[in-house]
Amino acid sequence: MPKWENKRTDSVRMMEIQTMQESQEQFHGLIRERFAKVALSQENRFPVGPENAKTLGYDPDEIENLATSVTESFCGVGNPFGLGELAPGQNVLDLGSGAGLDSILAARKVGPSGKVIGVDMTPEMIDKAKQNVDALWLENTEFRLGDIEALPLEDTSVDVVITNGVFNLCTDKPKVLAEVFRVLRPGGRIQMADILLHDDVTPEEVATKGSWSD
Ligand SMILES: C[S@@+](CC[C@H](N)C(=O)[O-])C[C@H]1O[C@@H](n2cnc3c(N)ncnc32)[C@H](O)[C@@H]1O
Repeated sequence: MPKWENKRTDSVRMMEIQTMQESQEQFHGLIRERFAKVALSQENRFPVGPENAKTLGYDPDEIENLATSVTESFCGVGNPFGLGELAPGQNVLDLGSGAGLDSILAARKVGPSGKVIGVDMTPEMIDKAKQNVDALWLENTEFRLGDIEALPLEDTSVDVVITNGVFNLCTDKPKVLAEVFRVLRPGGRIQMADILLHDDVTPEEVATKGSWSD
């Protein structure tokens, strides 16, 4: 292959990578916009709030005992706690922690000798989660603003990863899983609640929904 052709291929590749990065940045911008609205209670296009949590199998008493500011922005799609028990003393990571409902429930289960870290890329969600945890005087819970495709956590520092309704929003799923494996200790596990696209859903139905989370 002539040298100029090699150069051309490289520049096309660079343009493709640049375009992918730009479209990922745009996509992240749209996600932040949407979930900022959920944090500010301005979104009603998909199930949000305490009734949604109860429908998804959370203990109704546990949900009713939480403040409205914790439950009103809950936008999970399942119940990650149904997949395994958390034990006192464990370190838990909540991927895409939103307003903090799952992190708070996890913090109560792991107790003062354990720790919970929530990571979310929407500043309004992180602010709300921090306020929620401060109001409860929960000292074993921390929230970090960040992208779960590049986790702001050390290697092998986590016993259990929980996540609810977030993986479907990630453009680079292998990268998220690689990050999960990086931060998990040997023998650790992930408890994921998420939505799946079944084969019998047509492209027309997907187009009509017009939403990532429906
Ligand atoms: C459907 S909500 C679920 C929030 C929370 N898990 C709950 O159950 O209420 C999705 C959350 O994931 C966050 N998110 C989406 N993609 C993310 C990414 N790549 N990195 C970090 N957070 C992300 C959004 O900001 C939003 O708060």
